[in-house]
Amino acid sequence: MVDPVRVGVLISGRGSNMQALAEHRRRDPVRPYSLQLVAANDPEARGLVVARRLGIPTWSHSHRGVARAEFDRMVEAALLEHRVELVALAGYMRLLSAEFVERWAGRILNIHPSLLPLYKGLDTHRRALLAGDVVAGCSVHVVTPALDDGPVLAQAEVRIRPRDTPEILADRVLAEEHKLYPRTIEAYATGLRQGWLQVTPLPVRGDHHII
Ligand code: GRF
Repeated sequence: MVDPVRVGVLISGRGSNMQALAEHRRRDPVRPYSLQLVAANDPEARGLVVARRLGIPTWSHSHRGVARAEFDRMVEAALLEHRVELVALAGYMRLLSAEFVERWAGRILNIHPSLLPLYKGLDTHRRALLAGDVVAGCSVHVVTPALDDGPVLAQAEVRIRPRDTPEILADRVLAEEHKLYPRTIEAYATGLRQGWLQVTPLPVRGDHHII
């Protein structure tokens, strides 16, 4: 059996997608990925409690008063300490510095609650309803420096119903996110291990001024 790809999940809040990733893996230990670290930019993030309960190491630090690139270097140090190879953003409400994204090029995935390229940014469900869309959904994409902009790997659609509110729609989309993200990370991890996905070599600790 090949070594599972070591995944670090970045969260800011509830962490339900992180939990879905952990549970998907737990249902079948032969999965090609395993969660090695859950890191948050808010020490009060509820998902940290969930991660601890699941036995996953956690790291947190408030981003307040810390320059973006400096904060990302702290996050990176934690990732490298846990030998993380793939970063999964799961409700991480911080823009990443271009430096961090470039150093981890091809190694950062994100789940976004819209059918990208529609509705990048926040408040996606309200915007879909206001536009009169009949279909909403979620996307998993590779992270590039521009917000919610990298290549889309997978999407799931959710039909919009006449009486949907943003909250009701968000719940149905979230249920799809919980299925889509684990499957996509699983496929991506398989690609990494089998070598048909070529990504940047892992950053080396303390090596911040090369690019
Ligand atoms: C999800 O809707 C995700 O798509 C978005 O933020 C939300 C995070 O939810 N990026 P959770 O923290 O995973 O429960």
